[in-house]
Amino acid sequence: MTTSLIENAVNLLKAGKLVAFPTETVYGLGADASNQKAVDSIFAAKKRPKTHPLIVHIENGDQLGEWARDIPETAIKLADAFWPGPLTLVLPKQPWVLDVVTGHQDTIAIRIPKHPLALALLKAFGSGLAAPSANQFTHVSPTTAEAVRQELGNAVADILDGGPCEIGLESTIIDLSKATPHILRPGMITPQQLEQCLGKKIAFHQSTLTTTRVPGTHTLHYAPSTQTELLTNNEIQQRLNDSRELSIILITYDANSFQIPQHVKHFALSHHPSQYAHDLYETLRQADQLHAACILIQAVPHHSEWDAISDRIQKASGRKI
Ligand code: TXA
Ligand code: MG
Repeated sequence: MTTSLIENAVNLLKAGKLVAFPTETVYGLGADASNQKAVDSIFAAKKRPKTHPLIVHIENGDQLGEWARDIPETAIKLADAFWPGPLTLVLPKQPWVLDVVTGHQDTIAIRIPKHPLALALLKAFGSGLAAPSANQFTHVSPTTAEAVRQELGNAVADILDGGPCEIGLESTIIDLSKATPHILRPGMITPQQLEQCLGKKIAFHQSTLTTTRVPGTHTLHYAPSTQTELLTNNEIQQRLNDSRELSIILITYDANSFQIPQHVKHFALSHHPSQYAHDLYETLRQADQLHAACILIQAVPHHSEWDAISDRIQKASGRKI
């Protein structure tokens, strides 16, 4: 059964079509990374600007050298420790790699995902698949096959359904192409884990968000279409007190902090970061479908285990707390 599903998906990919597939992080929108037209159609399906480069997914470490060159020792160490898994390495690219994949940069982002269906697909396909998250540009990434259908509909030739994604947030991205490794996107693999593996300090990418929220002026990423606000506990209680009949959605990790009026729709997420991350995008998606006036999100703890979550809810709201 699964074999014929994989065969069918591989045939579509070889014919230059798009196939969405599950990974342990979020669903990816896959295309043959060496087929210019196929990769072009990823950008069309997502309405994504061509300046945003893609991650190439491979199935085993031997394929790394086909896509990347001058591979440093740090890359080997990290790949050995974290692949298959939610870590993307940015490395100097091989000259033949298509500019549409790398956004005309001299580097390529690459990872081995940890999901049996993704690995079976990549193995049967035999080469790299370019795969961004399978959502419209700036939307919340999909963590179920149903969410991919909602995001992409007929733009995708096939969707492999692997159930809900285990992790729920996109991979950690680390740039190894410069002298000092630095994190470009936080994920559930933390800087501490990476530093421990490498035995040296790594640098952090500085978020470009400011502390002032000017609605409509930010390009929000990972964002629902409902106005989404990231607030302190005091701010939330104030807003709940003032809300009266206004349709408000509240997302918390620690519900005990609040007195919540009856009419407020409340999503109580876990106070464990891994469970919170697993549930966040699906919750934002469900919340968005209620067409409320706003979604209020409780700011999460300042602790490295929460950093990736903090990054995504900051980007969804356009506010840094
Ligand atoms: O978990 C994930 O990484 C998921 C699953 C499907 O693997 N993929 C994903 O892809 O999140 P996407 O396209 O939504 O995000 C890719 C990120 C973008 O922020 C992009 O700028 C960065 O990777 N990226 C890709 N190539 C790069 C490069 N050469 N240099 C720096 N950043 C790069
Ligand atoms: Mg994405």
